Amino acid sequence: MSMTTDDCTVVREGFPRPFPDTPSKVLEQFRLHGKVVVVTGAADGIGLAVADAMAEAGANVALWYNSNDAAVQRSQELAREYSIKALAYKVDVSDAAQVQKAVSEVVHDFQKIDVFIANAGMSISKPILEQTLDEYRKQMSVNVDGVVFCAKYAGEIFRRQGFGNLIVTSSMSGHIVNVPVDQPVYNATKAYVTHFAKSLAREWRDFARVNIVSPGFFDTKMGAGPLALNEAYRMSAMGRQGHVKEIKGLYLYLASDASTYMTGSDVLIDGGYVLP
Ligand SMILES: NC(=O)c1ccc[n+]([C@@H]2O[C@H](COP(=O)([O-])OP(=O)(O)OC[C@H]3O[C@@H](n4cnc5c(N)ncnc54)[C@H](OP(=O)(O)O)[C@@H]3O)[C@@H](O)[C@H]2O)c1
Repeated sequence: MSMTTDDCTVVREGFPRPFPDTPSKVLEQFRLHGKVVVVTGAADGIGLAVADAMAEAGANVALWYNSNDAAVQRSQELAREYSIKALAYKVDVSDAAQVQKAVSEVVHDFQKIDVFIANAGMSISKPILEQTLDEYRKQMSVNVDGVVFCAKYAGEIFRRQGFGNLIVTSSMSGHIVNVPVDQPVYNATKAYVTHFAKSLAREWRDFARVNIVSPGFFDTKMGAGPLALNEAYRMSAMGRQGHVKEIKGLYLYLASDASTYMTGSDVLIDGGYVLP
């Protein structure tokens, strides 16, 4: 940052940087053929839809799952359906050693990682005065530690490669305080990863892009629960939750060469929930 106009006249070596060597035709920019994409939480919900989107666009995909081994069969189906390479990996993202090992395995199996989508998350939606410390620690370990570990070990690969792209699934709960169910710990975990990812966009400016997706309520296992459902319909300008097919295009955009000038952005996709 320049403090004065005089400071600003000093030409920085290597600037301006060149434009990227990417296609001009927009639909070509969206093609992911030859790219390798890792998706965490890929067995179900948003992560599964995103893994599908990446495969549909031609990417080779590593589907990370924790407990739901449906990811194994889905990876085999994706490989057949889209003539790509797809493999499933069982990884608890709250365990740094498992994350580090799985990142190495993906690089061994696919030779590189172009895009890492840190999507896994969980919530125990309770007021802090009713939440146990173990419940607090569990949410921190998956939503915060999990993203930090994935970013740290994927980032080492990105720096070594000289390229990379991290996409973090945060939440509108990092922007607003949810009603009517108080869930301060979950909300705060998402605020953490949003700001962490923005900070990485600067730290990694020489070799990787980092962006954030902040969904509103989507109709998945983590979507609006019975106590929040009517409020979700009322608050969303769309009057409903999102369908996971409606989030695929955003992740594809961020993963692809259509978004090469985008880093440090936090994109809300919430049917207008946070407008009022
Ligand atoms: N749905 C919504 O309304 C909504 C709104 C805002 C943000 N989000 C965020 O979107 C992301 C995906 O959630 P979703 O809605 O698709 O719900 P989901 O279907 O329940 O997906 C959550 C995923 O996280 C994985 N996961 C949980 N603990 C893990 C661990 N320790 N290690 C590795 N993976 C773990 C789960 O894997 P296994 O099933 O294999 O255990 C599961 O695939 C989450 O980060 C969530 O916070 C969702």
